[in-house]
Formats: sequence, C-alpha cells, structure tokens
Amino acid sequence: MTDLPSTLIDKFQRRVDYVRLSVTDRCDFRCVYCMAEEMTFIPKPDVLTLEELYQVSLAFTELGVSKIRLTGGEPLIRNNVMSLIEKMGQLQGLDELVITTNGSQLQRLAAPLLEAGVKRLNISLDTLQPRKFRSLTRHGNLDQVIAGIDAAIAAGFKRTKLNAVILKGRNEDEALDLVNFARDREIDLSFIEEMPLGLIDDHDRALSFCSSDELRSKIETQHSLTALGDPSGNAGPTRYFSMTDSKSRVGFISPHSNNFCHLCNRVRVTVEGRLLLCLGNEHSVDLRHILRSSDYSLYKLKRAIVDAMDIKPEKHIFDNSGKTEILRFMNMTGG
Ligand code: GTP
Ligand code: 5AD
Ligand code: SF4
Repeated sequence: MTDLPSTLIDKFQRRVDYVRLSVTDRCDFRCVYCMAEEMTFIPKPDVLTLEELYQVSLAFTELGVSKIRLTGGEPLIRNNVMSLIEKMGQLQGLDELVITTNGSQLQRLAAPLLEAGVKRLNISLDTLQPRKFRSLTRHGNLDQVIAGIDAAIAAGFKRTKLNAVILKGRNEDEALDLVNFARDREIDLSFIEEMPLGLIDDHDRALSFCSSDELRSKIETQHSLTALGDPSGNAGPTRYFSMTDSKSRVGFISPHSNNFCHLCNRVRVTVEGRLLLCLGNEHSVDLRHILRSSDYSLYKLKRAIVDAMDIKPEKHIFDNSGKTEILRFMNMTGG
C-alpha cells in the first residue's frame, strides 16, 4: 500500500523514530519508587505474545523507526525473550536495538544478547551498599547486579549506561560513589529525578525529591563537569556532561527541573499493546485490538500507528506534591 508515510511525524513536527517497547510488566525486583510491595500483574492473556511484539516492531521499523528499546518490568525475565530479540536483531532499518534492564540476568545473557544484535544496555543501579540495595529493590541482590554489569563489559558491550534514581534521605549521599564506580569501569551513568507514576506506599515523593542541580553540585566538589550540549534526538531527555580525566559521561534526567518535551522523539508500547504517545499523559491507542482482530494485517497496524501521531501531546506536566495524576506504574511502560 502506498498511502502510508515512510516516517512518523506528529502535529508539532517532531519526528518519532524511537519506540520503547515493554515486553513484560513483571519483575524480579520491587524497587520502592517503581512498584508497591504487593503488585497485581496483568493477566497473561492480556499481555502481547512474542509474535505480536514482533509484528509491532516490524510495523514501526517499516515506518522509519530506527531505535527500539526493550523495557519491562524486567525484560530479560520474559519467557523465551531471546527468541524475540534474535528475530528483532534481523529487522531491516533497526539500527539500534537496545535494552533497559535491572541487570539480574546479565551474567547468563550478556554474551547472547550481544550476539543477537543488541547494541547497548542501560542497567539500573541506585546504591553500592548491599543492605540499602536490598531495601530499595526489596528483592534484589547487589552482588548479582554488579556481576551482571561486569559481564556486559566483558562480553564487549560499549557505552553501557547505569541509571540511578536518587531519593533524598535514602541514597543521595552516594552520588559520588556511583560516579566513581562508573569511572572505574569507563561506563556512563545517569541520575534520574523520581517521577510520580503509580501510587506507591513506601515514601512521600514530595519529601524524597532530589534535584539534578543538587547532585551536580555534589559531584563537582570532586570532578569538573563540562556540558555536552542540549539534549538532542539521540541523547533523549538526558543532559550529559564529560569529565576531563575519564571516558565516562555523567547524565541527568530531570523531568521536573528541565522540560525536554519539545525534543521528544519517542513513543511507548505497553505490555498490553497500548501505544502510549507520552509518558506523562494518558493519550493512547489500542494496538492489541488490531493485532487480535480476525482481519488483522500489517497494513492496518501501521495505519493505526500513523494516525496515532495526531494525538501525541505537546508536553507532560509532572507534580511530586503527592497528587499522582498518572495512575500507571512505571513497570507498565518501562519508563
Ligand atoms: P536513551 O535515550 O536511549 O539513551 O535511554 P534513556 O536514558 O532515555 O532510557 P532508560 O530506559 O535508561 O531510561 C532512563 C530514565 O529516563 C527512565 O526513568 C525513563 O523513564 C526516563 N525517560 C526516558 N524517556 C523519557 C521521556 O520521554 N520522558 C520522561 N519524562 N522520562 C523519560
Ligand atoms: N521515576 C523515575 N525513574 C523510575 N524508574 C522506575 N520508576 C521510576 C520513577 N517513578 C527507572 C528505573 C530504570 C528506568 C527504566 O526507570 O530505575 O532505571
Ligand atoms: Fe523492576 Fe526496574 Fe521497576 Fe526496579 S525499577 S522494580 S528493576 S522494573
């Protein structure tokens, strides 16, 4: 069919070439900022099958998307996820197949992932203290994650990035230790301001908020940081800084203190096949309905994606005052 464009452009003339695809809402951890202690997960029949996830990836790449990030929950605990990744690794036009993971499975999977064509890994690491790690993730084991990070480096992954969500009174005292950990390994590190996604019971987000500027000042007591320019399409929402004496870059993802929506190049697909046009809004289109209809075709899927660009909102408004407007938990969208 010829009436479909070869690229996705929204109403604000932003080119969408990056999709974040959640492959499971389940996770072996329960990070306090991401999930409640007791979570109800989506019933399996409502979750996209591996074949449906592949169809979605195919549709997007045929519409000019060149980067897909697999997210979760924890993407690497999905059954048979390697078979999907191997197929996606062959998709024409998909220059960057990348994954965001908690690192728990990397000792086993780092090498096969690289082999399958995965280009980069982002790995969550909020603390270097084993007991604190256990309390922030509720189930996680720090040694296992550090071994996973080292396995990714040993397998040959380049530009691995660590993500640290910083909460006041919990881990803000570790900013420098985390930077030094990344420097020792010559990998990148991003600090993330917590976002009000889902109602959590662990802490009051208004009190735990820690701004990127505060962290930056702390880091600058030891390392001088040079800004690498404004976030651009490739850098996404992260503002990166270099250090003269290290290959590592330090990034700040500051949805509160620095709005980057005018540069947004991405959409998300939730684990139920909802195409979500913005992380901070509810505008969405049900792709699963199309995938499961008796007259399914790749054309219809692509048509729905193209049409959805018209409802991509201009920007998100986050508010950590405790009034959570977005009831979706982060594990539904993978961030
Ligand atoms: P690249 O852009 O590929 O470098 O990755 P990333 O840093 O955006 O991805 P990652 O999965 O590591 O996400 C890190 C954090 O950035 C998570 O907390 C995401 O929720 C957040 N994030 C990613 N994209 C957006 C966005 O469009 N808006 C907001 N508010 N946060 C985002
Ligand atoms: N706010 C900010 N970041 C979050 N993450 C999970 N929940 C939140 C939240 N509420 C982070 C994880 C992971 C990334 C995908 O999102 O730590 O690094
Ligand atoms: Fe799991 Fe990541 Fe959420 Fe932690 S932040 S519970 S590792 S999905």
